[in-house]
Amino acid sequence: MNEKWWKQSIVYQVYPKSFHDNNHDGIGDLQGIIKKLDYLKDLGIDLIWLSPVYQSPMDDNGYDISDYYKIAPEFGTMEDLDELIEEARKRDIKIMMDLVINHSSDEHEWFIESKRSKNSPKRDWYIWRDPASDGGPPTNWRSVFGGSAWEYDANTNQYYLHVFSRKQPDLNWENKEVRQELAKMVSWWLDKGIGGFRVDAITFIKKSFELGNLQTYAADGLANIQEASLNQPGIHEFLHELREATFANYDIATVAEAPGVQDADLPLYVGENGHFNMLFEFNHVDLDLGPEGKWAEPVNWSLSDLKQIMKKSQEVYNTTGWGALYIENHDHPRSFTKFIRKAEADLRAQKMLAVFYMFMKGTPFIYQGQEIGMVNAHFSSIEDYDDLATIDQYQVAIQDGHTHEEALKAVWRRSRDNSRTPMQWDCSSNAGFTNGNPWLNVNSNYPKVNVENNIKDSESLYHFYKKLINLRKDSHYSESLLWGDYVSILEDHPEVFAYKRVHKSGNLVILCNFTDKETTVELDGTFQEIVLSNYSNSGFSKEHMNLKPYEAVVCLVD
Ligand code: GLC
Ligand code: CA
Repeated sequence: MNEKWWKQSIVYQVYPKSFHDNNHDGIGDLQGIIKKLDYLKDLGIDLIWLSPVYQSPMDDNGYDISDYYKIAPEFGTMEDLDELIEEARKRDIKIMMDLVINHSSDEHEWFIESKRSKNSPKRDWYIWRDPASDGGPPTNWRSVFGGSAWEYDANTNQYYLHVFSRKQPDLNWENKEVRQELAKMVSWWLDKGIGGFRVDAITFIKKSFELGNLQTYAADGLANIQEASLNQPGIHEFLHELREATFANYDIATVAEAPGVQDADLPLYVGENGHFNMLFEFNHVDLDLGPEGKWAEPVNWSLSDLKQIMKKSQEVYNTTGWGALYIENHDHPRSFTKFIRKAEADLRAQKMLAVFYMFMKGTPFIYQGQEIGMVNAHFSSIEDYDDLATIDQYQVAIQDGHTHEEALKAVWRRSRDNSRTPMQWDCSSNAGFTNGNPWLNVNSNYPKVNVENNIKDSESLYHFYKKLINLRKDSHYSESLLWGDYVSILEDHPEVFAYKRVHKSGNLVILCNFTDKETTVELDGTFQEIVLSNYSNSGFSKEHMNLKPYEAVVCLVD
């Protein structure tokens, strides 16, 4: 068995802008993270995924990099980053950097040079095309954040392609110099001794230009760019080359953000000699999305949908690759509203969700604030939002004739700012995030939901997460929880998400009641002993288990 360190790790994602502000300018920073390392160590984490801290005009909060070798001054200096790596190392924590190489910022010197003239030596480093015959964009592709994916440059009378915002021009991966320059940069970071990379939007690097205009039924004539830009034929050569030139030479962890990867492709991505160690899938976090996309009413999914989604990839990981387990990150609203679909947060359900995903096969990722039960923020004015995609979408909704209330309701449900509000540390003003004016408002529930209160209360979500982490890392059941096969069970049970971890050291069953009603579960075998529950008295006999509302149990079975 290949017992790599990162398979046994717990990862914690820090969104630097919102984590902790040390110099009180209202923006989280590297020194702020250093101050909180003991908190993370106590929680039991081994690896920090740091969302981008590179120099950036911050059009997309750092996912638009203008210098890959520099740190954004808002966050600190390269010395601060080195200090963070070193202070973390002292605590046996590694730092995973975010690698954003599908695109750069339009303020990167490469792009400035590329834009200068058609004859620029870097012209081909980005994707430039002549206008269509009517002078409009070369194709009808819609960018992920809305509007045409092509931006016109009057100076050279050509358009450049941007899958994301117009300030995020796509690098041209067809150009060998680009690939070499990126690989050089990646190795430079790895030589620093970082723990690895989370690789941003990497399934977008290959485009199928021959597809031209795509079919559309939308009123604006635009069509989803993903059809021509997501996981396209030919991508594997680029990814293989990148891995061989960089990742393969280091003992690191890589996790790819990889929408569009089909289950059949998983071996190529994360199998033995795959491009990455793990990848983030989207099916479970997007299960409430219908064909009309993320801003439309959520679809009414059933527990059986969720079971099928998880089963598909988990079963692959029994033999190939390794899972990246998550329910929250900086691109999705908080998990409670999505998976529980109730207005009022419920601690029992939050604990149940933790059990639901953390004991599957793979490495668990915890997003900052998830461990203390942070929930979506409902700001009453669009002025209070920051995320470019949110603001664009709000404006589109208003133009389409929706009322402010309707548009705001969609924002409350889907905005990425829901998970980007400042970390809630304590009851003091601005939740102890800053003494200054926070760049994004703190969620008004902070006097109740914060780290300090969580630590004080032994029944809190925070202590429950610690318990789960401990159970996975350092208990009689670690072997089963780490290496056991995932077996989907009780697939027809309408209320309970259930699976088994099968291992020679002991078989565990994980049962999660997704409803606020009591229910019962029977197994083929017998229940031996309760290993963990989010209630103090679980009702079980050898033959069956009574589950209370939102109860989650881990149980030894024969
Ligand atoms: C990824 C990031 C997201 C960013 C996008 C463009 O999806 O997680 O935050 O906006 O890529 O870089
Ligand atoms: Ca600061």
